[in-house]
Amino acid sequence: MDQAAFVKKYATNRLHTNSLKWDALGVRYGNPDLLPMWVADMEFQVPTAVTQALTARVAHGIYGYSFTPDTYYEAFLNWEQQRHQLSLKKDWLRFGTGVVNSLYAVINAYTQPGDGVMILTPVYYPFFDAVQDNHRQLVTSELINDHGHYTMDFEDIEAKIKANEVRLFVQCSPHNPVGRIWTAEEESRILALCAKYQVLVISDEIHQDIEIDPANHPFVSALTVADGRFQDNVIVLNSPSKTFNVACLLNSHVIIPNATLRQRYDDYMQRYNQTEVNVLGQTAGQAAYEHGADWLDQVLAVIRSNYQYLQTELAAKAPKVVVADLQGTYLTWLDLRAYLAPDATREFIQEKCGLAVDFGEWFSKNDQGFVRLNLATDPKYVHQAVQNIIECLNKLTE
Ligand SMILES: Cc1ncc(COP(=O)(O)O)c(C=O)c1O
Repeated sequence: MDQAAFVKKYATNRLHTNSLKWDALGVRYGNPDLLPMWVADMEFQVPTAVTQALTARVAHGIYGYSFTPDTYYEAFLNWEQQRHQLSLKKDWLRFGTGVVNSLYAVINAYTQPGDGVMILTPVYYPFFDAVQDNHRQLVTSELINDHGHYTMDFEDIEAKIKANEVRLFVQCSPHNPVGRIWTAEEESRILALCAKYQVLVISDEIHQDIEIDPANHPFVSALTVADGRFQDNVIVLNSPSKTFNVACLLNSHVIIPNATLRQRYDDYMQRYNQTEVNVLGQTAGQAAYEHGADWLDQVLAVIRSNYQYLQTELAAKAPKVVVADLQGTYLTWLDLRAYLAPDATREFIQEKCGLAVDFGEWFSKNDQGFVRLNLATDPKYVHQAVQNIIECLNKLTE
């Protein structure tokens, strides 16, 4: 299927479906008519095989207590092996009702109130909440921003681990919002640093499948780095939700290779979180892992061409906008500070451009003047958003 045919078949109007992205604009932004480019989900219907599997399950009409079938494990383990050369064992896997929910759980399971938990900013804002809501000490290290190419500041990270007795490091890989896929070298270095100071690593790999240029920037799981040398000190969180647009089916994975850490997690969950699995989430996940690869490849092609369009148009017509290198995730990160005072960004984007975006200061207090736009959508929305930004920026300088 070519791209236009794919978009025609799968892109869908989401208004009046209780969509957070489309139907909560009045509440969240004070204006229901903005074009929503925020919230990391897609305007594309799930793979047809997923709809069919869900339809068949729903037709049965009973949703009583269920367990995870071997076929689910097989589908997910095969996916990780084939797509990422990641060999997982069934025993390592636990289920959650969302990656953020599991992040809260692991922070509680492995640290005590007051313990230092480090994150690299700017970062997906629930990371701040997960640390602070649980009364842990938030320790941040700012990524180094070299004209839209972001890297880790290893010296700063090491100094802060030492100074704050950091116990847990939560990484985002690929990193939302700056779009980096950390290389094997970067991952080796950060994981070695954490091992040196006995800092447990939580790797949020929910965006693992959204690779923009896999030939040059392949996703590297923290579990495969250095032939798995750091596996005993890493817990990976992931799920089918970003990959296959099934966030609200609430089915996610907690992957714990080390037996002692697993026991600690199980003890914690035994006390605080005795949930069942989500039967529809697992039905969808299994079908997606078994049959969704082609659909994903088509979605990736749309995301790539949306990104290329945005880059090319901005370079030609608003060249001082800095567009971060997009290697992973479908979220593009724009620096508008060459055109705007940072505190004028919000009004400019909402009032002038008519857009709802994620604002930079949500990801780091230092990043007012940046915006994050979601590219996993119908190209017509990306075109409109980009043209609105260009037109309004150019009016500023007229
Ligand atoms: C890095 C990251 N982690 C977690 C989530 C949310 O995961 P979930 O809906 O499974 O809680 C997102 C959603 O945008 C994300 O970008």
